[in-house]
Amino acid sequence: MKKYKLGFIGYGNMSKAIVGGILKSGILDKSQIAVSRLSDTAADGIFCTNDNGYVAENSEYLVLAVKPQIFKQIEFSCSADCVISIMAGVDSKSISDKLGMDGRVIRVMPNTPSQIGKGATAIANNALGDRYNDFCKRIFESVGEVCFIDEDKFDAVTCVSGSGPAYAYYFVKAMIDGGVANGLDKATSKALTLDTVIGACEMIKANPDIPVGQLISNVCSKGGTTIEAINVLEENQLDKTVIDAMTACRKRSEELRQSK
Ligand SMILES: NC(=O)c1ccc[n+]([C@@H]2O[C@H](COP(=O)([O-])OP(=O)(O)OC[C@H]3O[C@@H](n4cnc5c(N)ncnc54)[C@H](OP(=O)(O)O)[C@@H]3O)[C@@H](O)[C@H]2O)c1
Repeated sequence: MKKYKLGFIGYGNMSKAIVGGILKSGILDKSQIAVSRLSDTAADGIFCTNDNGYVAENSEYLVLAVKPQIFKQIEFSCSADCVISIMAGVDSKSISDKLGMDGRVIRVMPNTPSQIGKGATAIANNALGDRYNDFCKRIFESVGEVCFIDEDKFDAVTCVSGSGPAYAYYFVKAMIDGGVANGLDKATSKALTLDTVIGACEMIKANPDIPVGQLISNVCSKGGTTIEAINVLEENQLDKTVIDAMTACRKRSEELRQSK
């Protein structure tokens, strides 16, 4: 029996978001969690040290949440039952080999909206069985939605949900600027844009049987206003630009993974 149920190597933005979700949903209490970080600054009432080995030896589950380049540099022995890695671009096999985990590693890709409980997390399919996978799923469900996907698709996951929040911010920013360019003050344009984008995403979710293309057509009456805007987006091939951008992101993810 280990002293802590869950340990974290690295207690930065993502770890804090995950711990916040776990505590809020009551999966664990503070006494069951330990964290290590570069500084050993007290961590919101949770046991905190700068001794990575101590946390790795005394936790049943160990979450790796340092930057990939830091993981490459640090050495510690690990006797956790299961390691969960949220590090981008480091495959489960190399983590297992480095820590001597004999395959007991689950790779996970969360994203930044996890910080407000609205994350989209992919967990890599693995052969570890329900006990480990159910616990891992519960952790990430405490900060948003979870899906299971093969690890060889993780570069694609990176280009959709990992980096995706930035594309959404980019589009939202352009819409806010568009409102201002057409006569609204910035605060009004921002408020209307956010509610419109959130509402549109909720419409898509609430109508799973209606293709997104159909929802677009439904707003575009012939000779109306919306079709004028959509025509300009189509002439400028916004869809192709988005796909090209995501392909560039996926390729960079592959490059980074292969250079490790
Ligand atoms: N942010 C995202 O959107 C996102 C999405 C998916 C995956 N990820 C992955 O999540 C991981 C963490 O990202 P983050 O945004 O949370 O990073 P972060 O905020 O920069 O936190 C990094 C943490 O690592 C600690 N650290 C640095 N050197 C260390 C060492 N030698 N030993 C132990 N701890 C050390 C830092 O300690 P101090 O607190 O003392 O400085 C800090 O707590 C990364 O691997 C990233 O690829 C991030």
